[in-house]
Amino acid sequence: MMIKRAEFICSNTNVDKLPQPTLPEYAFIGRSNVGKSSLINALTQRKGLAKTSQTPGKTQLINHFLIDNRWYLVDLPGYGYAKTSRSNRNEWEKFIRKYLFTRENLQCVFVLVDSRLKPQKIDLDFCYTLGEKGIPFILVFTKADKQSRVKSDQHIALFCKALKQWFEEIPPHFLTSSESRLGCDQVMELIDDVNQKFYSSYES
Ligand code: GTP
Ligand code: MG
Repeated sequence: MMIKRAEFICSNTNVDKLPQPTLPEYAFIGRSNVGKSSLINALTQRKGLAKTSQTPGKTQLINHFLIDNRWYLVDLPGYGYAKTSRSNRNEWEKFIRKYLFTRENLQCVFVLVDSRLKPQKIDLDFCYTLGEKGIPFILVFTKADKQSRVKSDQHIALFCKALKQWFEEIPPHFLTSSESRLGCDQVMELIDDVNQKFYSSYES
């Protein structure tokens, strides 16, 4: 999918003030610093679209980007940011949960996981919560350029094995790098497929 137009629309903590839920929407979530904003830039091939930082906790709001006037990419704040105070964390939980659980045009959630790490409880727990609520998600393993393919594949296999305790079917998963754009076209193809289904059901 070639993107012609990608524009920042708004940042919010108030779920009631988000754009009208008329277009298909895809949200990116995962641990702080896992590479959500970088992946959004790599997918859209717009370097400065989403703000990135070496310091965890950069993205603090729900950020909407409108793509080709047809669908939304949403950059969310990360979870597991150790320096955030407890009250901040509660706030995060509240508004992100409200967003995830109520956003009616949300087609699926991309859960980003650092491919360099063995399965982390915080990521598994988050997947479990989504599963429990029946929210479809796709796993995206990030930062593939930082280690060997063998290591990434080992970590992916371990993560999927851990998920099998809870899930009958393991969600689709991709290995990506925002540096090399590994996996980015595949992620975009998936979004394209869902968009096409969305619009064809709309027209019929
Ligand atoms: P928060 O907004 O703080 O939750 O972080 P985030 O998940 O949006 O992470 P962000 O995209 O800001 O990236 C964090 C750091 O990881 C930055 O220094 C990025 O340059 C780096 N990074 C992200 N993705 C990749 C990748 O695929 N490869 C490499 N080598 N570095 C990456
Ligand atoms: Mg970010």
